[in-house]
Amino acid sequence: MSIVKENLMDEFPEKSKELSEYMDSLPLTDDQEKNRGYLIQSLHRAQGIFGYLQEGVQLFVAKRLKLHLTDVYGVVSFYSYFTDKPVGDFKINVCTGTACFVKGADRLLEELTRFLHLEQGETSDDMKFSLGGLRCVGACSLAPVVMVNDKVYGNVAQKQVADIIEDCK
Ligand code: FES
Repeated sequence: MSIVKENLMDEFPEKSKELSEYMDSLPLTDDQEKNRGYLIQSLHRAQGIFGYLQEGVQLFVAKRLKLHLTDVYGVVSFYSYFTDKPVGDFKINVCTGTACFVKGADRLLEELTRFLHLEQGETSDDMKFSLGGLRCVGACSLAPVVMVNDKVYGNVAQKQVADIIEDCK
């Protein structure tokens, strides 16, 4: 077991306390299957607190829900919303769902790669930008869609990419 895993409370006392208090507020039981129903919302909260779901955080959640770490990891890796790597202040995600793909999402990704010097899944060294892709974000009528943190940019043309990046500054 890594040092981080054992010492989440020591290393991040305030964040751990906040997550712990949140999980104390859930009606958890000794029944793994019932607790499993609280996994996604717990991870959502944990990512909100820690910024990303490092292994120690996943283990913390797993223990509280009496689940195996592999159960938690399976959910984290399945949903593109969750990340187990540190992310930049501005998380720029291109929707790569069908409607957005048909309307040129791949060209937007290429343009963002060129501007940011980042490949999909990478974060800039100064931790300012992360570039990624998301599956359909439910705004298909606005395709192609780019999200910057929680802000949605719709009907994005390649030439708007520079403006989107500029908005982040
Ligand atoms: S496919 Fe992009 S919002 Fe639905």
